[in-house]
Amino acid sequence: MPKHPAEPFRIKMVEPIQLQPKDKRVEAMIKAGFNIFAVPAKDVFIDLLTDSGTGSMSQSQWAAMMEGDESYAGARSFYHLKETMEDIFGFKFFVPTHQGRAAENIISALMVKPDSCIPSNMHFDTTYANIRARGGSPVNLVNDRAFIPTATDDFKGNMDLGKLESFIQDVGADHIPFGSITITNNAGGGQPVSLENIKAVSKIYRKHGIPFFIDACRYAENSYFIKTREPGYADKSTKEIAREIFSLADGAWMSSKKDALVNIGGFLAMNDEELYQNVCNELILREGFPTYGGLAGRDLEAIATGLREGLDEAYLAYRIGQTAYLAERIQDAGFPIILPPGGHAIYIDAGALLPHIPQHEFPGQALAAALYIEGGVRGCEIGSIMFAHEDPETGEMVYPKLELVRLAIPRRMYTQSHMDYVVEVLAEIASKKETLSGYRITYEPRLLRHFTARFEPIQLQPA
Ligand SMILES: Cc1ncc(COP(=O)(O)O)c(C=O)c1O
Repeated sequence: MPKHPAEPFRIKMVEPIQLQPKDKRVEAMIKAGFNIFAVPAKDVFIDLLTDSGTGSMSQSQWAAMMEGDESYAGARSFYHLKETMEDIFGFKFFVPTHQGRAAENIISALMVKPDSCIPSNMHFDTTYANIRARGGSPVNLVNDRAFIPTATDDFKGNMDLGKLESFIQDVGADHIPFGSITITNNAGGGQPVSLENIKAVSKIYRKHGIPFFIDACRYAENSYFIKTREPGYADKSTKEIAREIFSLADGAWMSSKKDALVNIGGFLAMNDEELYQNVCNELILREGFPTYGGLAGRDLEAIATGLREGLDEAYLAYRIGQTAYLAERIQDAGFPIILPPGGHAIYIDAGALLPHIPQHEFPGQALAAALYIEGGVRGCEIGSIMFAHEDPETGEMVYPKLELVRLAIPRRMYTQSHMDYVVEVLAEIASKKETLSGYRITYEPRLLRHFTARFEPIQLQPA
């Protein structure tokens, strides 16, 4: 197989994009309070802010949407999705939700209490915030190798089993309403988790009677990594691997905006009937009737088709190959990145690149701002803006171990020359990295501040 397999599709419809002149990009950033989330998409040339809901749908998905049944209750489209869900995930019950965080909200509303602790390898920011919003404590127990950006372990998303065992002993299983694992580990570099690790995690949770829920956003990419990296799985299909993964859990939630190749949608799945009844009640309150859950019938059709396409191995080989291609070229341009490259994104180690900017001045923000100003490329800070917080006991700031900028690759969207352009912009930034300054926050909300915070460059302040 070629190192970077070509797209197993050809382009039938195009969407124009435009590179604004540099003075307009600077203007857009000032107006946005230097928060890249606040820059209008029309002013972005290559948008690598997220791989979530930003991909291209296939002709089969668009065709399926035309068959969407928009009945309020019991729509045909729901049963199409149900069939696919049973085939791939095998849980007894599921409800659609409008996206992943809606599923997180529902499970948190029902299961998290103020003294609850929820372990995971690493919680994504919305999961983290949903647990905190119910007064619970999300706890990250990923293995320590995950924090060594240059370590090239195959499964850097693995849970540290020793830490999990002692955590359960310390807080007591009765304070853990459910345990989780995120595949792949988005907050930790998009690194996969091995099946061996998922099996062991499941065994520990089960031993302590703790329900095990998987955050399944990128389960297909994770399954492909298992197939290509974990001994014993080369001859299994990605679908067989996925079945094995989910057979080890009591439930899962998923943002379908990733590996189901759609622009909106999610679900919460489980085996426990009583939980399902409570989920339905909560769903009706917040999302909609259980056979549509905040989505249109056509969305359900697109998800049903996309879930199958997302497991296609020719697609996954191209997808993982494209990420690896960008990683190799970025490294050639002299940028430190998290190794090995994950499935959906490249994570640049902005802390290592910009050692003159301390964590409290947000090196990731400095790099993300420069990427946009230099080349109209939008990436996302995954560092202190997203994760630094005050320790409730000591009042001191707790900073994350890594200051990253994530370049997430939308699915089936950009070509190799788009990737080459991104590398050229990065090379330009590398040549003047000492001139990049830190930032200070001028406004921040209580939770999930990275979405709406405003900043100013520190150098622009009068001395
Ligand atoms: C691992 C993980 N979990 C949960 C979510 C939340 O999903 P959504 O954006 O659909 O609410 C995301 C989104 O990026 C994610 O990457």
